[in-house]
Amino acid sequence: MPRAAVVYQKDQPMKIEEVSLRPVAEHEVLVRVKACGVCHSDLSALNEFFACPTPVILGHEAAGIVEQVGSAVSRVAPGDSVVAAWSPACGQCRFCKRGRPHLCNLADDPISRAMDRVSAGGQTIAQFLGVGGFCEQTILADNAVVKIDPAMPLDRAALLGCAVITGYGAARYAAQVQEGDEVAVFGCGGIGLNIIQSARLQGASLIVAIDLDDAKLELARRFGATHTLRGDGADLHKALRGLTRERAGLDFAFDAVGNVEIARAGFLSIAKGGELVLVGLAHMKDKLSLSQIAAVTQEKVIRGTTNGSTDTWKTLPELIRLYQDRKLMLDELVTRTYPLDEVNQAMDDLRSGRNARGVIVME
Ligand SMILES: NC(=O)c1ccc[n+]([C@@H]2O[C@H](COP(=O)([O-])OP(=O)(O)OC[C@H]3O[C@@H](n4cnc5c(N)ncnc54)[C@H](O)[C@@H]3O)[C@@H](O)[C@H]2O)c1
Ligand SMILES: [Zn+2]
Ligand SMILES: [Zn+2]
Repeated sequence: MPRAAVVYQKDQPMKIEEVSLRPVAEHEVLVRVKACGVCHSDLSALNEFFACPTPVILGHEAAGIVEQVGSAVSRVAPGDSVVAAWSPACGQCRFCKRGRPHLCNLADDPISRAMDRVSAGGQTIAQFLGVGGFCEQTILADNAVVKIDPAMPLDRAALLGCAVITGYGAARYAAQVQEGDEVAVFGCGGIGLNIIQSARLQGASLIVAIDLDDAKLELARRFGATHTLRGDGADLHKALRGLTRERAGLDFAFDAVGNVEIARAGFLSIAKGGELVLVGLAHMKDKLSLSQIAAVTQEKVIRGTTNGSTDTWKTLPELIRLYQDRKLMLDELVTRTYPLDEVNQAMDDLRSGRNARGVIVME
């Protein structure tokens, strides 16, 4: 029986225990999980920043090897290397049909279709975002699994499934940063560092990284930041505007923390016609308050983005090519790997901001 890290109670350590998986259904895939990154969204589910049922297995940035497929599965076969897609795409709904699969109706609530695949002691256990990657084996829907190049190391490939696709896509596909643009990225964790490297690849001329941690700012420079600022400085928006051409303001400000104060500072720091891009998830009770007049008269855009506003099936091969051509930094994202038994330590290290990414690696 596979071992899993199960959350029974919010804000309490996960319990490592053996679990049972039910047989795969016709449209499902059984995957031997080899690696799963630890994302701030896992911590937010544990913290009740947003609602998530318990008991639950967290982890949604996973890669592994297909072991078994249901009778109706044609996309993957046993032995394939795969990355889990926490944002599934049905190919049928109006969003999928209009080229916006990241907004697929299935992605509204992927956990609701993943409540009965795993159990322990007679109790069913949910899989966070339909993935439940902190488990040695997992069952995924066939529209939530992406076949990848078998040459790709799985402890690196895992990160593509959330941190990289989200950050890379936020700059390339959501904001569509252009050559010469001036951008700032608040928060230099797994998501923010990937926004920074995507802005670099897009040719942004000014990339300001903002964080509370000096080591993260140092890392941000390696990923492409041209300037760094501490997030606890006074009048951040004035400092940011001061760095831009004619002190006019930024073309894009990205919130990769998930904090309404940061979103406000971002809104104040963008130029006329600029965009505030919201990537981080604030507490579910937080409300964002901004000047409506400024938004109207200065044509400021406020944009949310999920899953990098992109098609996972098209973008993962693009990311793998960039990594293999040494244009995308991936190895540098992994601060530390942990065995499954140390998943609580990995979560503590994320909470304290120690890691760019911590990755759970399974034999
Ligand atoms: N939109 C999406 O599709 C999507 C996908 C994945 C994650 N997320 C969200 O993105 C956010 C970031 O995730 P992550 O995994 O990179 O988190 P992380 O914890 O790895 O990184 C957050 C960074 O923000 C910094 N920070 C905290 N407070 C700050 C402040 N006041 N000013 C400046 N920097 C500050 C921290 O030091 C840390 O480096 C989370 O809210 C997560 O839930 C969104
Ligand atoms: Zn994530
Ligand atoms: Zn769809």
